[in-house]
Amino acid sequence: MSDLYLKLVNTPVGKSAAQTLGLPSPNPLKRLKRVDQPYVEGDVLVAAGSGAKAVSTLGATLGASPANLFHATGLDTLDESSKVGNKAQALDVTGELNGKFSALVFDATGLKTPQELRALYDFFHPTIRKLAANGRILVIGQDPHTCRKAPQAAAQQSLEGFVRAMGKEIGKKGATANLIWMAPNAENQLDSSVRFFLSPRSAYVSGQFVRIGKADTAKATNPVAPLAGKVALVTGASRGIGASIAETLSRDGATVIGLDIPQALEDLKTVTDAIKGKALACDITDEKAPKLIADFIAKETGGVDFVVHNAGITRDKTLGNMPEHFWDMTIAVNLTAEELIDEELMHRSLLNENGRIVCISSISGIAGNFGQTNYSCAKSGVIGYVEAMSKQLKDGITINAIAPGFIETQMTAAMPFTIREAGRRMNSLSQGGQPIDVAEAIAWYCNPASAGVTGNVVRVCGQSLIGK
Ligand code: NAI
Repeated sequence: MSDLYLKLVNTPVGKSAAQTLGLPSPNPLKRLKRVDQPYVEGDVLVAAGSGAKAVSTLGATLGASPANLFHATGLDTLDESSKVGNKAQALDVTGELNGKFSALVFDATGLKTPQELRALYDFFHPTIRKLAANGRILVIGQDPHTCRKAPQAAAQQSLEGFVRAMGKEIGKKGATANLIWMAPNAENQLDSSVRFFLSPRSAYVSGQFVRIGKADTAKATNPVAPLAGKVALVTGASRGIGASIAETLSRDGATVIGLDIPQALEDLKTVTDAIKGKALACDITDEKAPKLIADFIAKETGGVDFVVHNAGITRDKTLGNMPEHFWDMTIAVNLTAEELIDEELMHRSLLNENGRIVCISSISGIAGNFGQTNYSCAKSGVIGYVEAMSKQLKDGITINAIAPGFIETQMTAAMPFTIREAGRRMNSLSQGGQPIDVAEAIAWYCNPASAGVTGNVVRVCGQSLIGK
């Protein structure tokens, strides 16, 4: 569904009318145009606080891009910045800064006390106004759960509030701010996440943090077809977000098995035929569904690398007015089916080594929504499932969730006008997301180089004001 206001406000007349009336002026987001597009271009400025651990790894990742790399100088607190490597030119941030930066990247992994947080101010105070439209801010810290001393945990946890606040300040430019919290010695797991957060693929992801742990291998990324040779199962693939996930995973090289209810088979085939995938008609709440899906995978592909639990329904009513079948269906589709399908696939060893399970939660599962006790309950359950499973899975298999905010699909097009408009504007980027925004985040989770990314719930919501 098209966002007329976004189009209008980006005409010269619309822009000045919005300014006069004090209305939001969202900047259209820049999404990926070509798969071989560099993940970052233009001028990128890197800085590092004392004891920084990720800065030389960042230098290797950024050095492989066509961006012009700079490292911050001019202040004692930023002394470690030059460790980004000799591809970067020194730039005194206390002097006059010309031009705009496409990204500002800060390695805060070494900050051990609240006093050392001053380095954040020293770096971002003179540079934040020089961030280009659609620019990226990325901060790398150490996961506070891994900090033994309280002052260090405090300093590292501070990064969350700092990044979220910056996201709100830069959102009107269509720019984003995100945080990677890595475990000690997990530097070699950073690459795919740094690329994702600095690229147009994360256009609608802001104010988020992701935890990255150690993993056995850090596999090289083929930037054009990173999922080549892999097989994906995507539920609810006939339309909306699911169709986009199927198309995106296929674009990145995977063979896709799309699944949807029998009534949607024609639409499903349109999606899967276009990407040379396979269509499976199945109601995931049917008690025979896990076996049917496993049999299909065993016969057609012999196994699966990615399982994307996207199928979902809403059946809204206030709890006192809710018929029991609204409750039962919503829990069954959005939560129970995921667990039963995974159980069957793993029991029959059909989920391959280094596999990826991705579940779709929702902002409703984080904040709770009026009239959605059933849906919020199920989508919260998805988060609990992901967190618990991430501690149990073996053989390099990861599990993560995406919690979409307001995404322009048939589901949101059906909302009453005022609720739809509120959903679109109540986020730092003042616009709705597109199905591709969710799909790109899933492709990042599925990337072979994302082995250290597990147990996360990343919101694709433009930093919605609702929830955390
Ligand atoms: P949609 O309604 O356009 O698509 C959902 C798909 O799931 C449909 O193709 C439907 O036929 C399929 N499905 C439903 N029940 C099924 C069953 N029993 N067995 C097999 N397939 C079944 O929804 P949309 O907007 O694309 O949402 C996709 C996912 O994202 C859902 O899990 C939804 O809850 C979630 N989500 C969407 C948001 C949005 O703004 N559109 C916001 C937050 C979460």
